[in-house]
Amino acid sequence: MIYEPREDSLLLEKYVKKLAQGKVLDMGTGSGIQAKAALTKTKEVTAADSNPEAVAYVKKLGIKAVQSDLFSNIKGKFDTIIFNPPYLPEAEGEDKESQQITTGGKQGYELLERFLKEAKAHLNPKGIILLVYSSLTGNIEAVAKKQGFNVEVLEEQKMFFERIIVSKLFPD
Ligand SMILES: C[S@@+](CC[C@H](N)C(=O)[O-])C[C@H]1O[C@@H](n2cnc3c(N)ncnc32)[C@H](O)[C@@H]1O
Repeated sequence: MIYEPREDSLLLEKYVKKLAQGKVLDMGTGSGIQAKAALTKTKEVTAADSNPEAVAYVKKLGIKAVQSDLFSNIKGKFDTIIFNPPYLPEAEGEDKESQQITTGGKQGYELLERFLKEAKAHLNPKGIILLVYSSLTGNIEAVAKKQGFNVEVLEEQKMFFERIIVSKLFPD
């Protein structure tokens, strides 16, 4: 299943078009929406996803793509890392395939925490991470701080039961 771009994708895309620069990694690329936005700013874009279907799909669009569980198959450092992760807390009865694109773990932030832990080794000193998540994800500022990142909130969007938040993260 490939994630059909939604409000979170579009909110993040807006800031990718403004801020992506240099060597870019689009983690969890899905339909490739963020990689395509980054390609309007730079030629050096790599897309990654754990789902082979998404990797095959974006390759067909002519985007360089790698199958990878977070950074397991990613080499080198980047100036901009983009991620619209699965960020919701586990919901009862949700099937495995849908979980892979929406669920970040029992609390919601677990995958993001693992991502931030691994991202440090792949970010250039002046590099940034562009991230979207929800008010349901947990205290991302605290999670990021613990991993040595500062968080600058760029925009929040009110939805029915949650707020969607786009932030820029940079090393302390
Ligand atoms: C919410 S979708 C975002 C898709 C697209 N980037 C967008 O903005 O619309 C999350 C994506 O992360 C991918 N993903 C989930 N777990 C992952 C992991 N451990 N490593 C890499 N990608 C993962 C999913 O397959 C899915 O494509």
